[in-house]
Amino acid sequence: MQASVLTDAFVRDNLMGPNAVLMVEELCDGFLPTDTRHVCDLGCGSGLTSIWLAEHIRGSVCACDLWNTAEANQAQFDELGLGQRVHAVQADALALPFTSGTFDALVSVDSYNYFGRQSGVIDRVVACVQPGSPVLLAVPGLVRPLDDQMMEVFGVSWTREQMEYLWTANQWHDLLSQSAEVRIDHIGAMACFEQAWADWLACDNDYARGDCAAMRAGADSLMNLIAIRLTRK
Ligand SMILES: C[S@@+](CC[C@H](N)C(=O)[O-])C[C@H]1O[C@@H](n2cnc3c(N)ncnc32)[C@H](O)[C@@H]1O
Repeated sequence: MQASVLTDAFVRDNLMGPNAVLMVEELCDGFLPTDTRHVCDLGCGSGLTSIWLAEHIRGSVCACDLWNTAEANQAQFDELGLGQRVHAVQADALALPFTSGTFDALVSVDSYNYFGRQSGVIDRVVACVQPGSPVLLAVPGLVRPLDDQMMEVFGVSWTREQMEYLWTANQWHDLLSQSAEVRIDHIGAMACFEQAWADWLACDNDYARGDCAAMRAGADSLMNLIAIRLTRK
């Protein structure tokens, strides 16, 4: 078996938040068939999850992101020898440039909470996958709905606006159960929370250092990571 390119040092250099590799592993375990032909990795950031997906399915990966350019991401995939199977696209999830049913799976890690909190968004997003496809989302979340008392802890590092991007599993359930386009298979807290955050906080960058203060003040007991597993009807 070929060694993974996702070494600890490579992962550390490319993290943009809690360890996305641990998140995608747990999210997809048993839910993403290895014979998936074409998966969309929505909000892939610098592409760690796209690389993981390429190493775990036989098909190809569309690495789609808004903030990271396709050129930068594609250069990294090419350099790693994955350019034939991982294709970078820069696009907004709310206006995806794919025809209906292009993919047979959609994965999104630490991204859907940025753009998916309005009703109807899931219907637009899942139009790009075929009926019956898995739609696997992992998001940072809260153990209870945000209130002023929690903001006293979170406020050490984050603004209220930033925290409003984080919801509880029940809030995601209430939103997504309104959709006629997806079936909810499972929504719940992920086991990798502690390690995924520890890996991020150990990174040598200003964002990670900034997040440390709130975690030290107790944010870790108010937050979680949430796996949302859906099937496109
Ligand atoms: C915290 S980063 C996480 C990146 C990556 N998934 C990871 O875990 O390493 C959030 C990502 O969401 C993406 N994103 C935010 N809004 C988006 C949108 N409307 N459409 C597509 N991607 C979006 C950003 O481009 C960014 O890369």
